[in-house]
Amino acid sequence: MRLSLLVVVVAAALSCAAAASPPAGGKMPLTPDFYKQTCPRAERIIAEVIQSKQMENPTTAAGVLRVFFHDCFVGGCDASVLIASNQFAKSEHDAEINLSLPGDAFDAVVRAKLALEMECPGVVSCADILSLASGVLVTLTGGPRYPVPLGRRDSLSSSPAAADAELPHSNFTVDRLIQMFGAKGFSVQELVALSGAHTLGFSHCKEFADRIFNYRDKKDGKPEPFDPTMNPSFARGLQGACKDYLKDPTIAAFNDIMTPGKFDNMYFINLERGLGGCSTPTRSCGRTRGPSRSCSSTHPTPPSSSTTSAAQWRSSACSASRPAQRERSGRRCDTYNHGPNMPTN
Ligand code: HEM
Repeated sequence: MRLSLLVVVVAAALSCAAAASPPAGGKMPLTPDFYKQTCPRAERIIAEVIQSKQMENPTTAAGVLRVFFHDCFVGGCDASVLIASNQFAKSEHDAEINLSLPGDAFDAVVRAKLALEMECPGVVSCADILSLASGVLVTLTGGPRYPVPLGRRDSLSSSPAAADAELPHSNFTVDRLIQMFGAKGFSVQELVALSGAHTLGFSHCKEFADRIFNYRDKKDGKPEPFDPTMNPSFARGLQGACKDYLKDPTIAAFNDIMTPGKFDNMYFINLERGLGGCSTPTRSCGRTRGPSRSCSSTHPTPPSSSTTSAAQWRSSACSASRPAQRERSGRRCDTYNHGPNMPTN
C-alpha cells in the first residue's frame, strides 16, 4: 500500500508536471479521454511500441523517465527537449545538462510517433507521447498503472539556456533543491518522492566522484577516504569501479544497487543504509545537511502514514491543464513543425 502510493505520487507528479510553470495563455483541462474520438488506439499503439523498445533495451525506462523530468521541469511538459538543434539555433536538447540524456529514450518516442502517424497523422502531441511512454514504463518496471491526463501541446520554442538554468545539478544542496522545486510548486515531500525515480538507471562517476575521491570534511577540511555517510564497502566498491573515470567518462554505477531495473522504493531503503550516492539528492542529504539529518527524515513517510490520498497528492502536485497558446503540432517530434490535423479543442 505504502509503496504503491509512493510510486503513484512520483508518477502523478510527473504526469502533471506541466503545471510547473504557468502557461502564457488560457488553460484547457487535460483529460485521459482526449484522443477518444481522434485517435482511439493511441494508448495501445504507444504501449506496444514502448514495450518492444524496453524489451530490446532495458535501459529505456530510466532514460525516458529522466527525459520526461527534464522536459517537464523546463517550461512544462511540452516536448521542447525532443527538438533537435538545427543550423540556426541550438535547442534545449543540446543544453549542457541534457547531453547525458540517452539516445534510446529519444528513439522510443520517435518510434511511437512514427507508429501513431500511420494510424492518425498529426493528432497525438509529442508531449502526450512522452507522458504516456513514461506511464507505460513505470508499469513495465514494476510500478503501478495510473491514468495519464492528455491534451498537452508541443512547444514552439526550445532553447538550451533555460534547461541549464532551471534543472537541478548534481552539486546542489538540499536547501537549493527545496527552493528550486518549491519555485515550481512542489512541496518537500513531492521533491523527495520524485527523487525516488532514481530507483531506476545509473549515474556517471563524475556525478559523485567528489564523494569517493579526495573527500574532505565540510567543517574542518580534514581529508577522509570517502564521504563518511556512505557504507564503507559500498564506497570502496565505487572507488574501484570508478577508478578510471577520468580516462573513460562513460563509466557509471546504478542509482539503486539492489534492484536497479525495478520501479520500487529500494532507493529510499538504500539511502538509510548508506548505499545511495550515485545521484544527487542522496549525496545532498548525507553531506550538506549532515549526518544528524538523514535522508529518511525528509523523504516520504507519506501517503499511507498520513491521511493524504493519492488523489489529493495528484491535485496538489498539479492542476492539470494545458496552455492553449503553445502549439507545435506535427508529424515529427524532433523538429518544429505544424500539421493540419492537431485538435484545437
Ligand atoms: C532532485 C533533483 C535531481 C537531481 C539533482 C538529479 C540528478 C541526476 C543525475 C546527476 C543523474 C545521473 C545522470 C548521468 O550520469 O547520466 C540522474 C539520473 C537519473 N535521474 Fe535524476 N535528478 C533529480 C531528479 C530527478 C527526477 C525528479 C526524476 C524523475 C522523476 C529523475 C530521474 C532520473 C533517472 C530515471 C535517472 C537515470 C537515467 C538513466 O539511467 O538513463 N531525476 N539524475
